[in-house]
Amino acid sequence: MVDLPTLQPFFADKLELLAEILGRYPEYGRRSALMPLLWEVQRAERHVSEARIEEIAEIIGVTATEAKGVMSFYSTYHEQPVGRYHLQVCRTLSCALAGGDELYAHVCERTGLVNGETDAEGRFSIQNVECLGSCGTAPVLQVNDAFYERVTRSGVDALLEAMRRDELPPPTRERGGDNASAAKAERQTTPADPTDAGGAA
Ligand code: FES
Repeated sequence: MVDLPTLQPFFADKLELLAEILGRYPEYGRRSALMPLLWEVQRAERHVSEARIEEIAEIIGVTATEAKGVMSFYSTYHEQPVGRYHLQVCRTLSCALAGGDELYAHVCERTGLVNGETDAEGRFSIQNVECLGSCGTAPVLQVNDAFYERVTRSGVDALLEAMRRDELPPPTRERGGDNASAAKAERQTTPADPTDAGGAA
């Protein structure tokens, strides 16, 4: 008989982290910890497998179906592993008006991938997402947790080149938030081609 490897529970060796997350909520609101727990797994494993969903559901006292229902509502969480560099191009109105669709097509062309695909190497994956909350600095590309605002096609090329060297340039996020300390990119504007205006990378 073959011994199949047993998957160690994700939080088995992260009890301090687990306690910290659960401690953010009152006992009766333990289910509120679902999103941060999913996020910890997603960040570490680039997806949340069925086994991890079941583990989290048990921790917070909901069914796996309930946990999955919440998870499937958000584009942040993935049931299959995404690439080491998960490229998310906003397709909502402000970005579309600023050349987001052309930008998405450019990213697809440069990586050879389309929405939902991951390359064989596991380096890049692409996702067309809804508003990322940076409409005033459209078009926006999010790579993992980093935002690149007013990104251009040449900026995308530079970013992809850097990521092929396993370097992720500092994010360019103008409106503050997590990347408040990031250096702002030097930009030019070219009215005839709003998606190729210099470089956001
Ligand atoms: S429309 Fe793209 S960030 Fe809001």
